[in-house]
Amino acid sequence: MAYSEKVMDHFANPRNVGEMLEADGIGEVGNPKCGDIMKMYIKVKDNVITDVKFKTFGCGAAIATSSMATELIKGKTIDEALKLTNKAVMEALDGLPPVKIHCSVLAEQAIKSAIADYYTKKGINPTPIVGEIPCCDHEHGSCNCVE
Ligand code: FES
Repeated sequence: MAYSEKVMDHFANPRNVGEMLEADGIGEVGNPKCGDIMKMYIKVKDNVITDVKFKTFGCGAAIATSSMATELIKGKTIDEALKLTNKAVMEALDGLPPVKIHCSVLAEQAIKSAIADYYTKKGINPTPIVGEIPCCDHEHGSCNCVE
């Protein structure tokens, strides 16, 4: 399966790339097998994610999914962002080749990790709100986690 035009577009012209100096939450996650790393920064005001930036040291699919994920959560409430699944990100990109599905899991994890950091910084335990940050959804048989 080839990459969709949307994947190629977000890989070649990723949106919201960069760092944020005064982020309200910073998440960093990595895929233990391929070693790729994704860092996500969020700015939050009145429970709404007003700005988001990311840096991905990883494969093209990881870059495209993180780019699309930032687009999908910008301007959304924290609750809405927490509901964003890697499947929704993949659908927004018109799909990914099966061997690349695990890359999209990083984007979902990075958002949850940034939101968890936001709550931690506010002195709130994030686990009841964000949940355990999943290593992988294990559904596709392409899981690369080391459990
Ligand atoms: Fe590592 Fe895609 S191969 S995230």
